[in-house]
Parts: sequence; C-alpha cells; structure tokens
Amino acid sequence: MKPVRLGFIGLGHIATRAHLPPLAEMAEAGEVVLQAFCDVNREAVEEQARAFGVRAVYTDHHEMFRKEALDGVYVCIPPTLHTDAEQMAAERGTALFVEKPQTLDIAQAVAFNRAIQKAGIVSQVGFLNRYHPSSERVREMLGERTPRHALVQFFYSGRPVRYWTSRFELCGGSFVENTIHMVDLLRFFLGDIEAVSAFYVDRKPGEGPEPMDLPHVYNVSYRFRSGVTANATTSRVLTNVSVSRREILVVSDDSLIEWSAQRVVENGETVWEMPGGCNAFGVQARAFVEAVRRADPALTRSPYPEALNSLAAVLGANVSAAKGGELVQLDDLIAGAQEAGHGCR
Ligand SMILES: NC(=O)c1ccc[n+]([C@@H]2O[C@H](COP(=O)([O-])OP(=O)(O)OC[C@H]3O[C@@H](n4cnc5c(N)ncnc54)[C@H](O)[C@@H]3O)[C@@H](O)[C@H]2O)c1
Repeated sequence: MKPVRLGFIGLGHIATRAHLPPLAEMAEAGEVVLQAFCDVNREAVEEQARAFGVRAVYTDHHEMFRKEALDGVYVCIPPTLHTDAEQMAAERGTALFVEKPQTLDIAQAVAFNRAIQKAGIVSQVGFLNRYHPSSERVREMLGERTPRHALVQFFYSGRPVRYWTSRFELCGGSFVENTIHMVDLLRFFLGDIEAVSAFYVDRKPGEGPEPMDLPHVYNVSYRFRSGVTANATTSRVLTNVSVSRREILVVSDDSLIEWSAQRVVENGETVWEMPGGCNAFGVQARAFVEAVRRADPALTRSPYPEALNSLAAVLGANVSAAKGGELVQLDDLIAGAQEAGHGCR
C-alpha cells in the first residue's frame, strides 16, 4: 500500500496537539508520510519538523506547493489569515483538510467552495464532533423519531489564552470560533439550517479581562429546512470561577435526548456509554487519509461543500445580531457572497 503524502500549513496548537499525534502513529505504520511542514514562524516550524521527523520545511506555502508532490494538505491557521492555499490545493488536485471556522469571510468561503467542487477533490472541515460514536448513535435514534426542537447551552469559563481568540475581528467571537462545533453537530442530527435570528450582549470597554473584546452573550435562534427549530445560547462571563456548562438536548415526540461525547441519555436513562471516550481526532484523521487513498470525497463526514451551511449559520448569527436580530436567510447570505465575488488574495 502506497503511503499517503501529507503536508501541513500552520503548526500551532491544533496541528501539533490534535492532528499530528494520530498521523504520526500512522506514519510509524507506513500508512502516511509526513512530508512537508509550512509555518510563517520559522523557529516554530523547524522545532515541529524535528519533533515529527519531517525533512522539508517552508515558511511560504506557495513554495511548498511548487516543490512538493503532496496527496493531501492540512490547513490549520487562524480564520482571518486564509489567502489562496485552498485554491492552490484544488488546482493541483491535492486533498484538503481545513480547520473550522473555514474563514470569517463568507465570500471567500464561497470562492474556495467553487474551486473545490470544480476540482472534485477530497475535502474535510475539522468538525470533530461528527466522529464521536455518541453522535452516530444520536443520529441513528433521530432517524426513528420525530424531532421538534433542540437546545445548545455553552457557558465558557476561564481567562483569555491567546490574543487572536480574544478579539472579535480576529476570531469572529466565541459563537463563531467555538459554538460552531455544536451548530455543526445539530446539522449532523437535523439537516441544513435555513434561517437565523440573533441577539448578543456586547462587552463595553473595561468590562472583563484584557485584551478580550468579545460579546458577553450570544442568543441565537435557528430554523432548519425540515421545520425543526433550535436555540443556541453561549456566554463568556464565567471568567474567575471554575464552572462551565456544555449541553446539547434534542426533543422529539416522547423523547428527550441529551448528547455528550461519552454518553447518550434518553428520557433520563443512559442508552449508550463509552466512559473513557474515544480520540475522535484519531478517527477523523483515519477517515481523511482513507478518503485520500481512495480518492473518494464522500468518505469524509464534513466535506467543504457540506460544511458551508455550518459556517453560514454562525456568520449569519453575527450579521443578524449586528442588525438588531433581523432574520437572515442563509441562502440569501450565500447568494449575496456569490454576487459580490471574491478574488483570492
Ligand atoms: N477542532 C478543534 O477543536 C480546534 C481547536 C483549536 C483550534 N482550532 C482551529 O484551528 C485553527 C488554528 O488554530 P490554532 O489553535 O492551532 O492556532 P495557533 O495560533 O496555535 O496556530 C496557528 C499557526 O498558524 C501559523 N500561521 C499563520 N498564518 C500562516 C500562513 N499563512 N502560513 C503558514 N502558517 C501560518 C502561525 O504562525 C501559528 O503557528 C483555527 O481556525 C482554530 O479555530 C480547532
């Protein structure tokens, strides 16, 4: 079996802590080759190349694409820094793994999506929750029930860790940066989202820890194409206490399902359990590598075209909140972006 040749663009937190460890095991087993690393920070990329035994090191992805024959590339950079790596991968027929949120610019996502669909490449957005066995279980259960509504509660705690995840213009806010995982999971359960309306509680200067300027609260309502509705409530106000909450509930006729990575509870009874959980990053990495090996875009659970609705749903919430809660139709948001066009920078 020929190993799958992989490159990485962005060797920060998520690449080195989550994606590379399972891929390194696959490299040990001869299933993949970690062929080239690229990061604008030379010191960081050299350090990671030493750690993972990678010989080819770049600080510019254009040069990496020019010099390396890659089967797949991981793009793990902050969402405002995407330029043309996705476009270049599509043009070369190189499979693409992109971390969420794919970008903060919906017009850019639409342009990348067009290139990816035209090329027919394998793609995957890093929506990890789809790879938890508990998510598969809930999806199966909902296939046999009549869902009516869903609730996401996500109350973050702690102080800001990194500058870019503390600033609205750099991360799009906690709802876009983090709750997108839960919104995407709701889509895995309930299908595409049609419309969004949102109200936020903004942070005034001087409120809360520096350098954070993110809203305190995000209250978002969704209507799915199926007619099901959902509320997603997120806050970022539990700064100095060690409590937090992450809850996903789906209510169907005579069924209240509670999802977590380790457990599925229905009507108060545990119906599925994996106490230690599983490394969903590993499952996700294996699914991507297998899809690349077989050149089959249908083998990943959130190909870029499929994931566009999740991105539109969270960016649409920001648009609605900025307009005082006005209803935003996601098809209109995407059509507007298509008309506006986007020249890849
Ligand atoms: N799936 C998850 O659970 C999860 C968790 C954390 C982060 N993420 C996402 O992963 C992405 C990266 O986040 P992170 O936490 O690793 O950030 P990070 O700041 O730790 O690392 C980003 C790296 O990208 C590099 N970089 C920036 N622009 C570059 C470019 N043009 N070319 C090459 N390298 C470049 C930076 O130098 C840095 O090393 C974000 O979109 C984030 O939302 C996903």
